[in-house]
Amino acid sequence: MPFKALSSGARRRDGEMMTESTAAFARRIPKVEMHVHLEGSMQPDTLLRLARKHHVDIGADTVHDVESLYGYTDFLHFLEVYQMSTQVLRDAEDFALITYEFLRNQAAQNVRYSEVMVSLSDHLIRGIDAETVMQGILEGQRRGEHDFKTRMAVILDAGRQWPDLVPQVQQVAARYAGRGVIGFGIGGDEANFPPELFTDEFAAAREAGLRLTCHAGEVAGADSMWGAIALGAERLGHGVHAHDDPTLYAELRSRRVALDMCPVSNVRTGAIPTLHAHPIRRYLEDGLLVTVNSDDPPMFGTSIANEYRALAEDLGLERAQIAEIALNGIRASFLPQDEKQRMEAEFRTAMGRLDE
Ligand code: ADE
Ligand code: ZN
Repeated sequence: MPFKALSSGARRRDGEMMTESTAAFARRIPKVEMHVHLEGSMQPDTLLRLARKHHVDIGADTVHDVESLYGYTDFLHFLEVYQMSTQVLRDAEDFALITYEFLRNQAAQNVRYSEVMVSLSDHLIRGIDAETVMQGILEGQRRGEHDFKTRMAVILDAGRQWPDLVPQVQQVAARYAGRGVIGFGIGGDEANFPPELFTDEFAAAREAGLRLTCHAGEVAGADSMWGAIALGAERLGHGVHAHDDPTLYAELRSRRVALDMCPVSNVRTGAIPTLHAHPIRRYLEDGLLVTVNSDDPPMFGTSIANEYRALAEDLGLERAQIAEIALNGIRASFLPQDEKQRMEAEFRTAMGRLDE
């Protein structure tokens, strides 16, 4: 057992104490995050501030009002609220601000590296120039990485419900490949826009040297996951339907296709009925390459530390299993091999000291 120190002391007789120590463990364990949306990470007070700055009516005046907006009838309702909230992002300073705050928040939870998705289509559709978005994000990244000592890389995530914009998002990703952008993917309305529609864009992205991800198996089934693999996606976002198809399940395991899982998000969008029904534990124990992530943290009333806490408290994972999931994040990342090895060694050292 590589994480002996982690698994010792995990159980306390006093339930209160255990809750507190689990939350502290979840915050302190070194982490990377592979599935988190920049716009969906905007804090409610920042959303309100930017709405006032640009005189945008978001139907909310207080943080409490904003939190009320974040109750969804279903997945498509979530996507509507997501798109509505992006309207407050207008100039490069706004994108710099949310990127800077994102990095501050990641650092506070001991996240050392994030591959953060940017929903470029949501901005293009409103007439915001891609350069404004990218220059703002890169400036926020420069300042945030310096001030908070945590790193990030961008994945441009095209909204599949606007198929006509997907080529443009892919081209912007290609233009910024190696200059802040590491990957390309698709999100949004999975049920109505299957992966096959985007074969050309994925091929072009790969040609441009970008790494590939795809939301799949979140609100559609195994067919959608097969389609995503056929596009060349190396990581699938969510993938809660993997076990619907035993052949798919075996394929994901043998090809080491990562599943970037987001348990609280899945409950809040209705993708799964309860946290207890989430398959992440089963997938981990069956040897799939699973990572844990917060997706759109304030929009789902969660945080990356809370996802780690939930693994322990709601899903009953041992600390050694949780540490393995943290390391899976590094393995599934798009970092170069030597950086992965260096980071894994660093994490193992830090994990060994957690109980001190
Ligand atoms: N965009 C932001 N969050 C998303 C999610 N959970 N699924 C698909 N697209 C998204
Ligand atoms: Zn997502």
